[in-house]
Amino acid sequence: SGCNSESRGALVVLEGLDRSGKTSQSSRLLTYLEGLGHSVELWRFPDRSTNVGQMISSYLSNKSQLDDHTIHLLFSANHGIMSTWVFMFPLSIIYWDKNLSDYVYKHTFDCGWTLLRSLMETKLKTGTTLIVDRYSYSGVAFSSAKGLGDEWCKAPEIGLLAPDLVLYLDIQPEKAAERGGYGAEKYEQLEFQRKVAQCYQVLHDASWKIVDACQPIEDIEKQLQELVLECVMACQKGKPLANLWS
Ligand code: TMP
Repeated sequence: SGCNSESRGALVVLEGLDRSGKTSQSSRLLTYLEGLGHSVELWRFPDRSTNVGQMISSYLSNKSQLDDHTIHLLFSANHGIMSTWVFMFPLSIIYWDKNLSDYVYKHTFDCGWTLLRSLMETKLKTGTTLIVDRYSYSGVAFSSAKGLGDEWCKAPEIGLLAPDLVLYLDIQPEKAAERGGYGAEKYEQLEFQRKVAQCYQVLHDASWKIVDACQPIEDIEKQLQELVLECVMACQKGKPLANLWS
């Protein structure tokens, strides 16, 4: 038919333990795809620039104490507030995150699901690829490593978009601990990161690619480029979107 209306951008997520190299590799991927002329954006969670993000940041730097359930829900709110939250809280609260004000009017009441979902879907459907540095998997892995139930951790984010590709930067917790700046934040403790690594393992599905994060940085970069390009092509050809945790 030649109709290309299903063509869209790709949702690519980078996951891994602290100090596995996600942030450096995400920005390298951004530069790479931009260089190829693709429309692409780099997002990261937690987004520390919002009000919720500042509460998270203060918690992570041990400046405030919060109950495990509370911080989990703050991370979720920072990922994109659930439709139920939208109905429960005054509208002003949803102006907090990701400058969603214009989407609030357009999508909140007719779209259901989440604001983040709407925002992502709009970007993808208009051909923009999203590189996302941490996503729901971090939320589940870090909170379940503290002993919270998997299902409880997933619940606030049911209905978000499932990534087309999850790049898991695999590093032994001991190796990560040797990297610069380790230990500056609350979760950067060897024992805890060992538990997080175990929790990540049960989250793997077909969209995950495990990449050895102890290789030279350029080798990792090259592998990620190939994986992402393949995924971007599949999405251009109309690979359907799916829901997370369904
Ligand atoms: P960052 O180092 O990538 O900024 O992430 C800060 C910490 O937050 C990191 O230790 C992982 C943790 N985290 C969660 O516990 N839950 C989440 O939902 C996210 C996105 C991160």
